[in-house]
Amino acid sequence: MVLQLGDVVPNFDAPTTEGQINFHEWIGDSWAILFSHPKDFTPVCTTELAEVARLKDDFAQRNTKVIGLSVDPVTSHLEWEKDIEETQGQAVNFPMIGDQDSYVAKLFGMIHPNASNTFTVRSVFIIDPAKKLRLTITYPASTGRNFAEILRVIDSLQLTDQYMVSTPVNWKDGDDVVISPSLSDEEAAQRFPKGFTKLKPYLRLTPQPNL
Ligand code: BEZ
Repeated sequence: MVLQLGDVVPNFDAPTTEGQINFHEWIGDSWAILFSHPKDFTPVCTTELAEVARLKDDFAQRNTKVIGLSVDPVTSHLEWEKDIEETQGQAVNFPMIGDQDSYVAKLFGMIHPNASNTFTVRSVFIIDPAKKLRLTITYPASTGRNFAEILRVIDSLQLTDQYMVSTPVNWKDGDDVVISPSLSDEEAAQRFPKGFTKLKPYLRLTPQPNL
């Protein structure tokens, strides 16, 4: 099954470095990021996990929980965490799923056989509190991810869920946003009292409404 945006993500029970979880219960009323890495004790993954840990407060400010996964056992994750702290100066502070039988990896399509039959690719899933999939990105094993981009997308999703706007190219929190083309100019004027710039009938920019 291919997971598509808007789908309710599959639920599962799994062991993690912080104990057994039921995924949907673990998400609770939060947003969640589930991300996979190819293998423990590998260099790029070591840098990625430390970076995710450094961003803990940034995720928390966005009511977002983070959980990692690879097809290694929890015992291996826990051993590797010592190396991550030693080499990166940052302890891992989020749970990692030990998906030894690849059950979750297969459920979420994290194994791409033409890349590797056994290891997960670098998948990222952003899941909302209704357990719906809101973003998926897949990176190759050779490329470490940019987690600032993941934070940027969460900002965009949370903003655009609340207001009838979307976020233009390279948008970041604080930049102007695009008014939904479904609103008339009169409706836009009411909803966006800071005003808007009309470049085309379908391209109207307004200051970010929640600031
Ligand atoms: C890495 O994390 O460095 C890595 C893992 C698997 C394949 C290639 C690179």
